[in-house]
Amino acid sequence: MNIILLGPPGAGKGTQASRLVADRGMVQLSTGDMLRAAVKAGTPVGLQAKAVMESGGLVSDEIVSGIIGERLDEMDRDSGAIFDGYPRTEAQAHSLDTLLGDRGRDLDHVIELEVDEDALVERITGRFTCAKCGEGYHDKFKLPKFEGVCDVCGSSEFKRRADDNEETVRTRMAEYRAKTAPILPIYEARGLVKRVDGMADIDEVTRQIEAILDA
Ligand code: AP5
Ligand code: MG
Repeated sequence: MNIILLGPPGAGKGTQASRLVADRGMVQLSTGDMLRAAVKAGTPVGLQAKAVMESGGLVSDEIVSGIIGERLDEMDRDSGAIFDGYPRTEAQAHSLDTLLGDRGRDLDHVIELEVDEDALVERITGRFTCAKCGEGYHDKFKLPKFEGVCDVCGSSEFKRRADDNEETVRTRMAEYRAKTAPILPIYEARGLVKRVDGMADIDEVTRQIEAILDA
């Protein structure tokens, strides 16, 4: 099964994708995570992406579709893919069709996380992750069980994203409205769009997604 998680910055795409990885053995393909890794490693892609990401704009369609193609080729044929943060433009949606078709894969669901944009700034500015294993946390909604210690790996080092400030978040949201939301009708016409309440608590959102996958 191959699915897209669609929603604005802070909607919970990464949070829900990592649960599906743990619960169902699916593979998370997050272009944001891949680009951040490239920036950190100082690769040519990372050098091109860094300033764009810090401003909240979108990295070029060629770059992101290129890295998605590479990841699909590395995947086990039987594993399902969760596209997190991709596609984000009409051109990327068309590229994804080609990338999947060339590999004999179908798209099963496009799950839209419906959220209230005003609440997202708080979600994003409060977000932090374990620097070692990447587990996601939030200052208010998901603190580690023991203060300063990662629940998963026990590390005491955490980090925050360079683009998680209010000004950049507003730009990222405007990009979502202008370039990403318009791809929904493409998938609606194919009957693939399913909606979940992204404002419910994290466990409830997971339950709603699992119900779609199990239907
Ligand atoms: P990317 O990394 O994809 O960022 P984004 O789309 O802005 O989304 P986020 O990762 O911020 O949010 P999320 O939906 O994953 O939320 P999360 O689960 O963490 O992209 C970053 C940048 O890379 C882009 O701006 C662009 O420059 C570039 N880029 C990436 N892909 C690209 C592409 N395809 N094309 C071009 N450029 C691309 O949740 C947020 C917080 O809320 C967490 O702290 C979490 O604990 C908490 N939370 C989650 N769910 C809930 C809930 N239900 N209730 C309460 N709190 C919750
Ligand atoms: Mg994310």
